[in-house]
Amino acid sequence: MNTQDYARWFRATTPYISTHRRQTFVVLLPGEALAHGNLTNIVNDLALLHVLGVRLVVVHGARPQINAALPESRLGTHKGVSRRVTDAEAIGVIAGVCGQLRSELEALFSTGVPSSPLHNAEIQVVSGNFVTAKPIGVLDGIDYQLTGQPRRIRADRIHKMLDGPAIVLLPPLGFSPSGQAFNLAADDVAEQVAVQLQAAKLIAFDAAPCLAHGDGRRLSHLTPAGLDAALAAASPGPATKQHLAMLARAVRGGVASGQLVSHQDDGALLAELFTADGVGTQVTEDDRHLVRQAEPRDVADIVAMIRPLEESGVLVKRPRDLLEREIGRFLVAEVDGFVVGCCALYPAGISVELACVAVHPAHRNGVGTGARLLAAAETAAGKKGYDSIFALTTQAKDWFVENGFKEASANDLPAPKQAIYNYQRNAKVLIKTLH
Ligand SMILES: CC(C)(COP(=O)(O)OP(=O)(O)OC[C@H]1O[C@@H](n2cnc3c(N)ncnc32)[C@H](O)[C@@H]1OP(=O)(O)O)[C@@H](O)C(=O)NCCC(=O)NCCS
Repeated sequence: MNTQDYARWFRATTPYISTHRRQTFVVLLPGEALAHGNLTNIVNDLALLHVLGVRLVVVHGARPQINAALPESRLGTHKGVSRRVTDAEAIGVIAGVCGQLRSELEALFSTGVPSSPLHNAEIQVVSGNFVTAKPIGVLDGIDYQLTGQPRRIRADRIHKMLDGPAIVLLPPLGFSPSGQAFNLAADDVAEQVAVQLQAAKLIAFDAAPCLAHGDGRRLSHLTPAGLDAALAAASPGPATKQHLAMLARAVRGGVASGQLVSHQDDGALLAELFTADGVGTQVTEDDRHLVRQAEPRDVADIVAMIRPLEESGVLVKRPRDLLEREIGRFLVAEVDGFVVGCCALYPAGISVELACVAVHPAHRNGVGTGARLLAAAETAAGKKGYDSIFALTTQAKDWFVENGFKEASANDLPAPKQAIYNYQRNAKVLIKTLH
């Protein structure tokens, strides 16, 4: 990477850095991730998030480690989810395994290797009795004994620790008010903690990099309502299925977004959180893509997006003050709250001009942001009773044609527009009849 690439990459991450700051993320680190060679990188990346001001709760699992320590233990399955039957002897072993894993994670968070985000960071990691538990009881005739589920999450105490600022580390263990320890599923703890804290994100590390179709195509986003259809189309492994179901439940419970990322790929977490398209699979209640009427607060984003296009002659120059006055004519496309595209409508008799169509380079040719803007502009123009919509373009003629516009000549423009048509610019005229 040369200096310019580096500067460009670093600048591109800044909107995400300010968005994530002071937000609460709950991270599920399953036992498989703890056993993987990439764990040190994951801990470094979590430390970096902490240093950038993200409030982090890390919930770790321990299933493969407990399986190794208790090879004889009995498993039961209820509603497709398998759980261990935990007797009095087993809970002691499980508490020991969790204690061991906790110290290993604490040690990793304390390693101040130069050139890592942990160097001189002095990160405080705290664990404690933040989760009370109750037994899951007898299911389908099996008494699960000391296998439990979260009963109450002490959200107020966790928030106090996060204010510290500390990283809160939670094991898959909980205690009943009488002091009895229970073996919990880390998924349950992560989901409940995320919901009780009303976290901005619940992030699940998984062996799979994302939910993918059979042909490998990534499903970058789904809604809880679309989960079943997505799972049927992609048929992932049982752990991935369970993680996505957990993310969908948490989102239904009020967590703003769920994210599935690989625990095997170095940097997957950062790529998911700090790039436009991410690399994993995101679950949110709303469609991430929204086209809406622009507001004065969007002016700066629009200016940043169209300036390079104006400088290269693709778009006609618009001074900022003009844009501020005309902001009511603009529509903007948003992805995850970021403005990634814009267009404007200027009435011209019975027709309307579609101008200043632009999509941020990081979002072009991807999910049809331009086409969505176009569709919203046509709907708005149709509602206002215009007969047709036209555009003048030097670079995007084929794109308009592919979206149903027909090439025309300057003589086909409404009379007032003909009078000011700039023959030097020689832009192509594209018209689409509405209705
Ligand atoms: C034109 C523009 C708005 C399209 O946005 P977008 O979000 O990439 O568009 P969509 O996702 O709806 O469409 C993508 C498709 O259009 C094609 N396309 C994109 N820009 C194109 C162009 N200038 N000419 C021809 N085809 C183009 C892509 O190759 C892609 O085709 P594919 O799916 O077969 O690969 C965007 O490229 C842009 O901002 N360009 C610079 C500004 C501009 O020229 N504006 C028009 C003048 S008002």
